[in-house]
Amino acid sequence: MKTKHLLTVHEIAVSDVTALLDRADRLKAQHRSGGLHRPLAGKTLGLLFEKASTRTRVSFEAAMNQLGGGSLFISAGDLQLKRGESIADTARVLSRYLDALVVRTFGHDLLEEWAAAATIPVINGLTDLHHPCQALGDLMTIRERFGSLKGLKLTYIGDGNNVAHSLIEAAAKTGVEIHLACPKGFEPDPLIVGASRIVAKQMGGKIEISREPAKAAEDADVLYTDVWISMGQEKQAKTRLKKFKPYQINGRLLSVAKPSAIVMHCLPAHRGLEISSDAMDGKQSAIWDQAENRLHIQKAILEWLLG
Ligand code: CP
Ligand code: NVA
Repeated sequence: MKTKHLLTVHEIAVSDVTALLDRADRLKAQHRSGGLHRPLAGKTLGLLFEKASTRTRVSFEAAMNQLGGGSLFISAGDLQLKRGESIADTARVLSRYLDALVVRTFGHDLLEEWAAAATIPVINGLTDLHHPCQALGDLMTIRERFGSLKGLKLTYIGDGNNVAHSLIEAAAKTGVEIHLACPKGFEPDPLIVGASRIVAKQMGGKIEISREPAKAAEDADVLYTDVWISMGQEKQAKTRLKKFKPYQINGRLLSVAKPSAIVMHCLPAHRGLEISSDAMDGKQSAIWDQAENRLHIQKAILEWLLG
């Protein structure tokens, strides 16, 4: 049987997306009521990270522990990988010790190399191109707030980056209308947008891209942003800080969205840059629930891949 991986949202069937969201809701309720649920006893999750992480690392480790299994953080810099052992050989060996592996790396092609050689499920913990666990947790948060997803307007302000790509794919799979306002030259990848437009059409959603935050935010149900400078882009800081200046979520932008709109940010945030402190801490912010829901959706993902 072919090993099941989670590399992008696009690769997950629509029915599986819904099943994961439903399962995550139930796991959250169960966790809140203090119930124990240990289907992964005796299993070990490896976390191999080439970039920093607070949420992904800690929520996956907690998720695995809560499901009765164990987790092992592996700093890529400490492996023989750094002395020239190949990804494929490392993946083959780790597959003999572990039951699943979360990988956070740079190029998405590197993640695909891990997945191609591993005989255990590989989970994308963020690449330069995608951040699927984030987007699935975000769908959970949005559905929790609004009751359903179809027909909602999600407006993403800023960089057409990994988080934006996975959100586009997630919105398409669930019939959410996604509007992105990005500066020239920082639009999302046209191949990802093109593939998701086909899905969006089937699901009754749409994908719009413009350069005007205020127009994109009009009557939005969700205002979402991410950092202007992603991990690995530090050298472009100067240009990016200049180009992204008009692309901030703040009280002014929020005033053109629906009064019931929520504010989202995958975190870490840079207060005063892509989002104002008012917007982050205001009563419309769903940001802390959003961070929490990473835990619940990832428990559903682990059950789905390992159960
Ligand atoms: N949102 C997110 O993935 O955060 P970390 O980089 O802290 O894991
Ligand atoms: N776009 C950001 C997301 C961090 C969770 C980055 O890649 O650094």
